[in-house]
Amino acid sequence: MFKRIKLFEPVIDDDVEAVVNVLRSGWIAHGPEVELFEMEFAEYIGVSYAAAVANGTIALMLALKVLGIGQGDEVLVPDYTFIATATAVLMVGAIPRFVDVEYTTFNIDINDLQEKITNRTKAIIAVHLFGHPADVKALQDIAKDRKLLLIEDAAQAHGAEAWNQKVGSFGDAAIFSFYATKNMTTGEGGMVISNNRNVIEKVKLLRNHGQVARYVHAELGGNYRMTSIQAALGRVQLKKLDRLNNIRRNNAKKLNTRLSCLREYIELPYELPWAKHVYHVYAIKIKRAEYRECVQKCLDSNGVETAIHYPLPLHLQPLFQSLGYHTCCENALKLSKCELSLPIHPRLSNEDVEYIGTTLISCIMDCCTIER
Ligand SMILES: Cc1ncc(COP(=O)(O)O)c(C=O)c1O
Repeated sequence: MFKRIKLFEPVIDDDVEAVVNVLRSGWIAHGPEVELFEMEFAEYIGVSYAAAVANGTIALMLALKVLGIGQGDEVLVPDYTFIATATAVLMVGAIPRFVDVEYTTFNIDINDLQEKITNRTKAIIAVHLFGHPADVKALQDIAKDRKLLLIEDAAQAHGAEAWNQKVGSFGDAAIFSFYATKNMTTGEGGMVISNNRNVIEKVKLLRNHGQVARYVHAELGGNYRMTSIQAALGRVQLKKLDRLNNIRRNNAKKLNTRLSCLREYIELPYELPWAKHVYHVYAIKIKRAEYRECVQKCLDSNGVETAIHYPLPLHLQPLFQSLGYHTCCENALKLSKCELSLPIHPRLSNEDVEYIGTTLISCIMDCCTIER
């Protein structure tokens, strides 16, 4: 039978029972299950407070809003990330200012960041892209020194660590996404976490129409709530997160070994000495970018699903072009041309990992050794 290996697959087992129990309880909208999920998630990351919301984009928008970011403020955002990191900034009326990323880790470049700070800069959003932590210590120092807020976008980095501390616990606030492809999922969902009680109280207020008493509304909010059904799923997912992240890390180790013979043609993912990478994505770089399309097609025709994260740096997205953004960020542009994401998820068998390795080797040999 033709083998097809998916790029992402959620691990759903005893989650089903937990969700069915909530369905049977009759309390399916926002309820006590959500509070339990919030407490357990905050405890897991090592912060004091958490507010579950509808998705990661809303989580980021609300975090920015409650931290006081608004009209005319500049927010430093990596040029190479999922678009939501920057659109959340637009959603509160602020201005994203794009910063280049390190070619090695795909994460925000500290030197370029320092050059982009102006007297209108209010905050930095540090994205832990693909599950590798950004240099949070350097970012904390800069934020303190320049009196900026630090917000972590940990949408892709549940359980990742920097200097043995979980990402999400370094900033003034952090957000996570629980979209279906993430290292843990609630289908759709998000979380804002912080050690600042006021921040989380305010997020909770805004996610529920600014309601201070039944049908009494003090602020402009919206319906950004998470349901109990989602929270029940999230609680079970959280329990297995460390185990599943370890499987991702093991798969990465196996692929690193299997693919080490390709160093002439590709670069493997980096894990800096102080970092614990949780491999939301196993991102390789094809050294001769013009061969990427051929490699991706070859993998696809042999049943290995891949993706390009991301085909455009943010400053070249049609949205930002239409807003007048021009040139920026050499590494981001370079990465958008050579990055290729391979399957690494915990549902891969040993044979699958071996097959991905062997297939990539043969695709590289087919595509990259012909002169063009
Ligand atoms: C880096 C990053 N930030 C924010 C988000 C937004 O999360 P959501 O899709 O839950 O709105 C994502 C989702 O993929 C993401 O990857």
